[in-house]
Amino acid sequence: MQPVLLKPGIHWVGAVDFNLRNFHHYSRSPEGSTYNAYLIQDDKTVLVDTVSHHYFDELVTHISALVEPQKIDYIICNHLEQDHAGVLPRIVELCKPEKIFCSTMGLKSISRQFNTEGWPVVAVKDGERLNIGKRNITFLETRMLHWPDSMVSYVEEDRVLFSNDAFGQNVATSRRFVDEYERPLLLRAMKDYYNNIVLPYSPMVLKTLDRVVQLGIPIDIIAPDHGLIFRTPDDIKFVLDSYRAFAEQKPKLRAVVAYESMWGATESMAFAVGDGLDDEGVPYVLIDMQHNHVSAVMNELADSGALILGSATRNNMPMVNIAALMAHVKGLKPQNLVGASFGAHGWSGEAPRMMAEELASMKVDVVGEPVRAHFGAKAEELAACRELGATVARALKEKVKAFA
Ligand SMILES: Cc1cc2nc3c(=O)[nH]c(=O)nc-3n(C[C@H](O)[C@H](O)[C@H](O)COP(=O)(O)O)c2cc1C
Ligand SMILES: [Fe+2]
Ligand SMILES: [Fe+2]
Repeated sequence: MQPVLLKPGIHWVGAVDFNLRNFHHYSRSPEGSTYNAYLIQDDKTVLVDTVSHHYFDELVTHISALVEPQKIDYIICNHLEQDHAGVLPRIVELCKPEKIFCSTMGLKSISRQFNTEGWPVVAVKDGERLNIGKRNITFLETRMLHWPDSMVSYVEEDRVLFSNDAFGQNVATSRRFVDEYERPLLLRAMKDYYNNIVLPYSPMVLKTLDRVVQLGIPIDIIAPDHGLIFRTPDDIKFVLDSYRAFAEQKPKLRAVVAYESMWGATESMAFAVGDGLDDEGVPYVLIDMQHNHVSAVMNELADSGALILGSATRNNMPMVNIAALMAHVKGLKPQNLVGASFGAHGWSGEAPRMMAEELASMKVDVVGEPVRAHFGAKAEELAACRELGATVARALKEKVKAFA
């Protein structure tokens, strides 16, 4: 791969990881990902972010194709997570930069993460402007989007926004721009990334989007640190509008039924819940948690408004993949969902009630009573599941209407 030109004097110099499937060890990346770093060549030579530790050679090769790495004067660290700063110690040693810029929150944590002895670290304030010759770079803090230290960097003269993790997607291709990729696949990757990583910080996303509008900063290019770069007015509008919609989390008329079963009774209940959703004309997806990663559920929730959980009771609890799912979902703080629960049991049968309580603790509107089946699910219990599906569907329709 070669450096890729964004604007005269501004290049992508990052790395593409085609085979990454486990993004950051907590989410899935079926299409791989990239670690984008950028080089600005002006009176000062500036490196914007770096790459994950596996990709040091790749980064140095890309920089070297444009300039000797030792010529780098400034390094901007928009965010100090390992995927963007993993090679920082080696890059600092190689380039001996005059200055390393990070946010004021970044300054507090950089020495906790690296041995920064002798590093020329400079904290930049929100709105601070840095002249690098013909260009000026403005730093905007995006605290908790998605770490306390996160910021974005904007090159005024070129109208390029280096947005770090914001607007990222897990997409690895030999192309670097969104207009060289298929929009539906891109949208899916954007939702996947947003819902599994950015979702809890949705209030910050809305605040940041409003601020960008207020500041009225013209943007020709949005260059995130993962995936493809947005460079046409249509693509830029698309990503900004999409982020607003993701952050608003209006409920959609579709349900996710996630379940786990040992011997099939809970699974048959899940099918019956699906029939009830069908009765009310609400589309749904059934996700067996023994065959799917927790992030698959969050992907589906991006297009849904209901989360229905099913689990057999095992040792007085829901089964472990459902427990893991509840932990994953809870941390991501999804909003505006309707929910319900069901499951088979042999004696004590705690799981359905425990799942309902857990959903309620996530501020999900739990409707209907948890449905239980004793060992095998018989006609009466399956009918109750069907009715539960229909109850969720009706509640969801009301909720969707309220948000219209
Ligand atoms: C290892 C194991 C532990 C179980 N623990 C409980 C339990 O604590 N309470 C209970 O009501 N049933 C318990 N059961 C019974 C199951 O919940 C029951 O067989 C149920 O019908 C399984 O549903 P499934 O067909 O969806 O797997 C246990 C079953 C197994 C195999
Ligand atoms: Fe990050
Ligand atoms: Fe990242």
